[in-house]
Amino acid sequence: MNLVSILNKSIKKKEKKRTRHAFPLKDSTFRNKDLIEGIKVILTKDLTMFKITKKFEKIFSKKLKTQYSLMVNSGSSANLLAFQCLINPYRKKRLQKDDEVLIPAICWSTSLWPIIQSGLKPVFVDVDKENFNINLKDLKKKISKKTKALILVHVLGNSANMETIMKIVKKNKIILIEDACESIGAKYKNKFLGTYGDFSTFSFYFSHQISSVEGGMICCKNKEDENILKSLRSHGWAKDLSNQKKLEKKFKSINKKFLFVNSGFNFRPTDIQAAIGLSQFKSLESIIKIRKINREKIIKKLISDKRWNNQVIFVKRSYNVKPSWFGLTMLLNKKLKKYKEKILERMDKFGIENRPIISGNFLRQPALRKYRLKQKSRDFPNANLIHELGLFVGIKNKILTQSEINKFSNIFFKSFRI
Ligand SMILES: Cc1ncc(COP(=O)(O)O)c(C=O)c1O
Repeated sequence: MNLVSILNKSIKKKEKKRTRHAFPLKDSTFRNKDLIEGIKVILTKDLTMFKITKKFEKIFSKKLKTQYSLMVNSGSSANLLAFQCLINPYRKKRLQKDDEVLIPAICWSTSLWPIIQSGLKPVFVDVDKENFNINLKDLKKKISKKTKALILVHVLGNSANMETIMKIVKKNKIILIEDACESIGAKYKNKFLGTYGDFSTFSFYFSHQISSVEGGMICCKNKEDENILKSLRSHGWAKDLSNQKKLEKKFKSINKKFLFVNSGFNFRPTDIQAAIGLSQFKSLESIIKIRKINREKIIKKLISDKRWNNQVIFVKRSYNVKPSWFGLTMLLNKKLKKYKEKILERMDKFGIENRPIISGNFLRQPALRKYRLKQKSRDFPNANLIHELGLFVGIKNKILTQSEINKFSNIFFKSFRI
């Protein structure tokens, strides 16, 4: 049996075990050609971070037009590195303890925790009802003298008005971090999300638009930050830095192979992940296109069906945004609020797996209780609306057939027959 058929067999076995849903949230995006790239690395026996990771970083920067990109082992690590870099003593303009960082109430847990883990103070901002991204009116209201940074969370492949946001951050000298973990390849006015901020982060977790199994990327705009990030990623080591020679000379009493110049983590990816991720990244445009087609086909089918009764409102792309849809994002009709649990349970039971928008209003999560934040979840009406009525379902990386679309639509309408 050759490698490809062994691979095929094992993938099929796994797929059977992994999901009982016809339309799962987490669907494998891996094609044989991606996995073969991973296997090629395994066969070289050079598995840890090396040449392929560098190659992926270079190609990533070139394609997205970012200055510096570093691959890490997850999007969460990328977010933590961004904030650790911002407080790092090597950074000339660094943040101080209790400096305020603005963050939308609809966010992922590891968009938030790196702020707290870095000794900074999160200040939540409400979101927009239409696109679920940060609300610009509330953003302006929440800026104080202590505001030093803003982390945007580009929600599920869509974004807020980046032009206005850039004006706000420039005017108020705010450092911008873009958490683009679920929005790779989306553009605002023909410029990729993740190229606006001082830092930006991406996730290649399984089921995202592209995947490296686990993995992520952090991008920054200058050498100073790149050096700090590189050494934080790898134990605080001085390795492959732009000022490497200078450091070795300065600390010549220390073995130059084991020179530690900073604090550190181990957030390195492996070359196996880089090879799989790079292979998927090369198809990013066609993957985005397929997901767009699937989303449009589903919506068209549902709203043209005689059973359609405005059961949900589909989230539209924001003005000037070319989205990279993560899933099919929607709000349940307000009139159906009291049946929500039942409807979603039925959808899941019949085969459409579904979930909240990111983590809902994060202020409502019990994880925050021990941290005594002054803000109250009730003061975020739009985030609460999305928390209570929002949901999304998967849209797959393969074109859905007409019979799959019909099946989706039948499950959808059957779920509402309560
Ligand atoms: C907005 C956002 N930020 C960060 C992350 C974390 O990425 P990872 O799962 O690669 O750690 C996710 C995960 O999907 C996310 O949706």
